[in-house]
Amino acid sequence: MTTATTRPSVQPSKTSDPLQLIDVDHVRFHVGNAKQAAFFYAHCFGFQIEQVNDLTTGNRDSATYLLTQGNIRFLLTSGLTAEHPASLEVAMYGDGVKDVAFTVFDAEKAFERAVKNGATPAVGGEPRTIKTATGTVTTATIRTYGRCQHTFVSRTGEFDLTNVKQGGLFAPGYKMIDGVCAPATGCGPQMGVSSILAINEHNKKHPCGLKYVDHLVGNVELGKMNYWVKFYEEVLEFTMFKHFDDKDIATDFSALMSKVMASGNNLIKMPINEPAPGKKKSQVQEYLDWHCNTPGVQHLALRTDDELHSIAALRGRGVDFLTLPDAYYDKVWDRVNGMLTQHGHEAVKEDHEAIRKLGILVDADDEGYLLQLFTKPLQDRPTLFFEIICRRGSQSFGKGNFKALFEALELEQQRRGNL
Ligand code: FE2
Repeated sequence: MTTATTRPSVQPSKTSDPLQLIDVDHVRFHVGNAKQAAFFYAHCFGFQIEQVNDLTTGNRDSATYLLTQGNIRFLLTSGLTAEHPASLEVAMYGDGVKDVAFTVFDAEKAFERAVKNGATPAVGGEPRTIKTATGTVTTATIRTYGRCQHTFVSRTGEFDLTNVKQGGLFAPGYKMIDGVCAPATGCGPQMGVSSILAINEHNKKHPCGLKYVDHLVGNVELGKMNYWVKFYEEVLEFTMFKHFDDKDIATDFSALMSKVMASGNNLIKMPINEPAPGKKKSQVQEYLDWHCNTPGVQHLALRTDDELHSIAALRGRGVDFLTLPDAYYDKVWDRVNGMLTQHGHEAVKEDHEAIRKLGILVDADDEGYLLQLFTKPLQDRPTLFFEIICRRGSQSFGKGNFKALFEALELEQQRRGNL
């Protein structure tokens, strides 16, 4: 049984495969108010509010905050004008994921290959390079389901991903949040900087232990799952990792079907869900109903090496997690430890009582086990949420928890009057 502490990333050497992914460069969210959202994710999830690109750096159209934790980079973007795509999309969909960007060796070549494979370029997505005297960032963007897109990013010089991970500038146009104004703009000190510095300092002392994006799940319309599976196979040259049908993922009331697509090197896994008919409304359909009947990212799973520490830290910060029926823990240890013994693995090493008290979910397969827990929606609409996941050998997604989880989700749907 292995315990992966870092993402299985690609060595930074030249490759003949233009679609070889090096890392998840960033995940961009379109939000109603980037400044306030930055405080929410920093306060509740322990992110550093590291850099900004807004009026104070000469950007007249949008404001973007870079939030970091481990190898996770979130960009929170708000439009500053009514016509900006972020303003229009927030009006339609609420806050949510716009772009899952991949670092590649050559963004232009990756884009050309994806388009040759059938991708549609995003509006304004053609390759462009921004240069400074010390480095370049090249981006090129294709569309995927709904309003979501994938940007290929290649970086050189001071903007190389290794430098960015060590606290270097994310891209030209960004500045560090350190109370010092960008010399070119002659602006005054940025408003709110002292409170950002204070929360950053607190988060350094009290880490939540989130390391990287393990997987991200898309919800698509009934009958569209196989269309998007084909898209990821053909356009991004992903392969199918696992699939579940409505017999696996069903309760008395609702059901879904899911296929997991993985990049060539398993750098990122992207399950795709579609609703399946049930007695009542599927959670996937509830998402679609509140997302303008448009597919989109349902959840991001963030990886930790210490589930108990991360969940305790996040609960302490006020994160709202799904609550499970207490009966879950009556059966879980026989199921999980039984499976582990059957496949020659040691039992779950974390304190069982602490797991129950923290309300963490556990599942096992032939390769090992995993610990996971799901937040409630991160905004008013029942759309995007996070999963906090720790893998001890298992590479699956907690299939054994689906029934217990769905029952808990349905309880929540019932509370919202959406069942
Ligand atoms: Fe998940």
